[in-house]
Amino acid sequence: MKETVKIFDTTLRDGEQSPGVALTGQEKLAVAEQLSRLGVDIIEAGFPQSSQGDFDAVRSIAQNVVGPTIAGLARCNQVDVVRTAEALEPAQRPRIHVFIATSPIHMRSKLRMSPEEVLDRVGSMVALARTYCDDVEFSAEDATRSEIEFLSKVAQIAAQAGARTINLPDTVGYTTPAEYYALVQAIRKAVPDPAVTLSVHCHNDLGLAVANTLSGIEAGCRQVEVAINGIGERAGNAALEEVVMALTARADVLKVGHQVDTKEIYRASQMVSRLTGMSIQFNKAIVGRNAFRHESGIHQDGMLKDRNTYEILSPESIGLGSTILVLGKHSGRHALRQRLDELGLTVTPEQLDQIQQRIKVLAEEKTAINDQDLEAIWQGAVGAGSAISESELLSWQVTTGTQVKPTAHVVIRVRDMVREDSGSGDGPVHALFQALTRAFEQSDVELSNYQLVPVSPGEGGLATVRVEVVAGSQDFSGQATDSDVLRASAFALHQALSRVAEHLTKGVVA
Ligand code: KIV
Ligand code: ZN
Repeated sequence: MKETVKIFDTTLRDGEQSPGVALTGQEKLAVAEQLSRLGVDIIEAGFPQSSQGDFDAVRSIAQNVVGPTIAGLARCNQVDVVRTAEALEPAQRPRIHVFIATSPIHMRSKLRMSPEEVLDRVGSMVALARTYCDDVEFSAEDATRSEIEFLSKVAQIAAQAGARTINLPDTVGYTTPAEYYALVQAIRKAVPDPAVTLSVHCHNDLGLAVANTLSGIEAGCRQVEVAINGIGERAGNAALEEVVMALTARADVLKVGHQVDTKEIYRASQMVSRLTGMSIQFNKAIVGRNAFRHESGIHQDGMLKDRNTYEILSPESIGLGSTILVLGKHSGRHALRQRLDELGLTVTPEQLDQIQQRIKVLAEEKTAINDQDLEAIWQGAVGAGSAISESELLSWQVTTGTQVKPTAHVVIRVRDMVREDSGSGDGPVHALFQALTRAFEQSDVELSNYQLVPVSPGEGGLATVRVEVVAGSQDFSGQATDSDVLRASAFALHQALSRVAEHLTKGVVA
């Protein structure tokens, strides 16, 4: 039987560390459910000691997501290891992932520890993690800038203390394929035990993350650490979809299999993009808008004669074009609940009501609501939170056009008070923002980001508007999905400013 490589997905940990990304617990659970459907072997659900929110999210994923191993990240210290074990406690297959830096610069400048102290810590913390769980992974942070003799020693001590997986991160995206190949081979020589899996984790600072990952596989790594859409610290991690499709399309060269259901790739990619607000570049390999589009006449002619002339992968192989049309205005609550469950999108009864109302309204303009629409509507409902019950956008109106200064008028309810106000601006969105900040009686608030993301194309197609505002030194966001971009803008701005209002009220009370 063909050997397989384990797919370790770190979208929810390294990916979530992408600047500007902050998923809620419910959103993380939805991503984890999709990763499970995708068939990854391991989900790194978070870094429990980093915050209470991360702890709760890891615990909820450990409790609810069946199938993959659930991993939590811990620094090499007792508090982190114990807290991670606690978060993973409900998991059927838990993994504690401990790490410490091993390069001279990290040990000297960041950790302020001697190499001997680092060695000592590796042995004791891997051993401690093993008292909680059989499956322990050890990562030597900045492995590619570590001294090879020292790194070999670290790997041997980790293996002796019970680590089953030894990960060799290219933390700063510095290595090259040939160099990484040699590194993996050297560590395999130092730790020849086949029960210890070597793992690759590459960052993309020089755009080499996927190339280095494939080189790691060729050198003998049987676990790859990847993230959907390649998100992660700075320039990101190796993209799951690129590594998996390279393994699929070039099985003749790479000669190792994987367990991923590639037909779930597109949905996972869209979901992560939408929830994180990180758009996918048009020419991105595998999941970019243009990945399967052919523009030139010669290419189109070739494609019509035989798709294999210009396509090495089919769009169907990643699940593109297979979105199921699910709901219309006559769909009942039961069908809606069932589809949400199937998609792993959890809701409270109030959120279900809200989603059903939105679908009824949207279905007037769009005959069928597909999974992508439903996900976007769900995200708006679960993102609303308590701030929304405190305030409501009752009505809005915008006037704009040639030689007209855009103006807006809004009516809102704040608790039991109805307020209305107007504003003008450089464009209709700016005018809405001005009118809303006046109605909320907020002065020191700035609109720092506005993003429009199409959800589904065609007539009546939906778009999601995401906005970020800064109040004082804090960021607040809002988002809404609609077939009318100004309506979506009005509701997204209202959501963000409701959060500011809620924050200010709490601040005064506290
Ligand atoms: O890049 C890195 O070194 C990491 C480790 C914590 C695995 O993300
Ligand atoms: Zn990393």
